[in-house]
Amino acid sequence: MTPLTRRTFLAAAPAAAPAAAAVTGDKPALKGGKKTRTQPFAAWPRFDQKEENALIEVLKSGKWYRGNGTFVKKFEESYSSLTGAKHCLATTNGTSALIISLDALGVGPGDEVLIPPYTFIATVNSVIRHHALPVFVDSDAATFQMDHRKVEAAINGNTRAIMPVHVAGGIGNLDAFVSIAAKHKIPLIEDACQAHLSEWKGRKVGTYGDAGCFSFQASKNLTSGEGGAILFKDEDARERAYAFHNNGSGLKFIGANFGYSSSGANMRMPEFQAAILLQQMTRLEGQVRTRTENANYLTSLLKQIPGITPATSGDGCTNNARHLFMLRYDAKAFGGLKREVFLKAMAAEGIPCSGGYSPLNSQQFIKTVLASRGYQRLFSAKRLNEWAEQNQCPVNDKICSEAVWFTQNMLLGPRTDMEQIADAVRKIQKFAGELA
Ligand SMILES: Cc1ncc(COP(=O)(O)O)c(C=O)c1O
Repeated sequence: MTPLTRRTFLAAAPAAAPAAAAVTGDKPALKGGKKTRTQPFAAWPRFDQKEENALIEVLKSGKWYRGNGTFVKKFEESYSSLTGAKHCLATTNGTSALIISLDALGVGPGDEVLIPPYTFIATVNSVIRHHALPVFVDSDAATFQMDHRKVEAAINGNTRAIMPVHVAGGIGNLDAFVSIAAKHKIPLIEDACQAHLSEWKGRKVGTYGDAGCFSFQASKNLTSGEGGAILFKDEDARERAYAFHNNGSGLKFIGANFGYSSSGANMRMPEFQAAILLQQMTRLEGQVRTRTENANYLTSLLKQIPGITPATSGDGCTNNARHLFMLRYDAKAFGGLKREVFLKAMAAEGIPCSGGYSPLNSQQFIKTVLASRGYQRLFSAKRLNEWAEQNQCPVNDKICSEAVWFTQNMLLGPRTDMEQIADAVRKIQKFAGELA
């Protein structure tokens, strides 16, 4: 497109632009102007003497693993009561939580699992680790979540689980996911790795599905550097999961001197992680409130800017944990300024952001996996050809090309931080002609 000068851009700018809020300087920072923000955003993770004391307590106890320690068990009890879940199993990380859940709910080689294409790669990998077929269900443009209206068409006789992801802490239509899973008698696994304390109709996510998986990796809203947990409704499923994560040795076999109920792996959470999580949990609800207030304020500011559309949540979402603040950027409202340049210009203004995920359904490695000897034996050529034909997620492709993300720690500061984010966006819009 013909590059716009500042003058022609301003002439073409939408008439509905908000009343000129103050922008910093008369030049974008990317072109050597004054930055909108010079301070870093709130630091993450947060900790104090409480974490330090807890770690020393585990250290000095000499009981560093769940087999003889008490912290992992305490964490499981506390996380159950915080979320309102019946049962909880702590794991090494969110990826293992997904792998264990799929095993405990009976997913195996030759099965199919429905997942969204807008997620972290671990969702896909957990399905492939079970030699099952990841079947992608397109995203919804407004929420960025798995589109519930497209789920049933993707179900066939081999579908063994539906695994929506509450991406960024938002929620799609959870009622629909629950009822479709029940209607087809297929387990529902919530990938809630980004959704600590998100709520649907007043109840915490992770408690709606047969399993709800969480990650406590370093970037997450509740963190111990690495870590994970699964919430279960059913005690037997928890027992199968326990056995799987303990090399196949279930609780019922403890004391039975190397008795095994199944195959498994070692995916046990260490005591140190649990000790940190117990302390981090005392801050979580307060942090959720701060993020919610700031995210609502930021939404109200950004919604006024032409070309910026913050992601929404399904109607039943009564709390969005805001692991990420996501929006869609429409270059047309910025004089055709490419998203990649917008991201650089924001960073130069002192507002770090990213373009988020790329379309997972078109990753080359998945095609390589499906072409492997094992998959060729497990799935008919007809099914794999059909998969290739059906594997189109046009809405998600567009989301991936337009998304802009801010990370959760940016929502933990004062309201003025939100104003600076919006100021930077307005400034880039004002000077887009010079940046294009
Ligand atoms: C949606 C989603 N699923 C799964 C995972 C995997 O969690 P972990 O990194 O703890 O293995 C993550 C974490 O990054 C995630 O964001």
